[in-house]
Amino acid sequence: MFVLVNLKTYPCDPVDVATAVRDVDEATDARLVVAPQAAHLERVAETGVETWAQHVDPIDYGSNTGHALAESLADAGADGTLINHSERRLKLADIDGAVEAAERAGLETVVCANNPEQIGAAAALGPDAVAVEPPELIGTGTPVSQADPEVVEDAVEAARNVDPDVSVLCGAGISTGDDVVAAGDLGAEGVLLASGVAKADDPRAALEDLVDPL
Ligand code: G3P
Repeated sequence: MFVLVNLKTYPCDPVDVATAVRDVDEATDARLVVAPQAAHLERVAETGVETWAQHVDPIDYGSNTGHALAESLADAGADGTLINHSERRLKLADIDGAVEAAERAGLETVVCANNPEQIGAAAALGPDAVAVEPPELIGTGTPVSQADPEVVEDAVEAARNVDPDVSVLCGAGISTGDDVVAAGDLGAEGVLLASGVAKADDPRAALEDLVDPL
């Protein structure tokens, strides 16, 4: 299973959490990666953990004040990037451009979407993976696999109909190993999660619990 820990802008120590993600990754067959804020990419990547950006803009080098350039994210240590997260939405043409920019810089891509219909459109843009996250469940602690299992199954089907090779992930409310197993049982190849780790009193223990049944 692929487990992406998104730190959003939570006030956790990104290097501490990244170090725990690295250590737990090394102790399990699951693939754990961490997505810190852009300003923390370099420090996080220095821990040796697989590091992802939370967002990339559909731009090239040039006059683009305030944007995230794919090459600069890669230079800072990013191996991959989220695109179109529910909290950082893009227009369809910009999602397409962001996937292209990421590929140009050698970044792996996960395009997020709200529902199975959007997942089909996201898969058509040729990312490495798509992730379905019902926005109303984000940050609730109620896992998508339990609250809305059909959305995961339908997303897997929608993605496969467009591109049999694209990986399908799910996220929202996931915080335990049982949630990760349930996501896998519904056909997801990985999960995105944030608050269950970034807001935990003991992020390392939360991560160990996540991968325990895998
Ligand atoms: O990117 C993952 C995220 O949106 C899910 O958040 O807090 O429900 O795990 P959370």
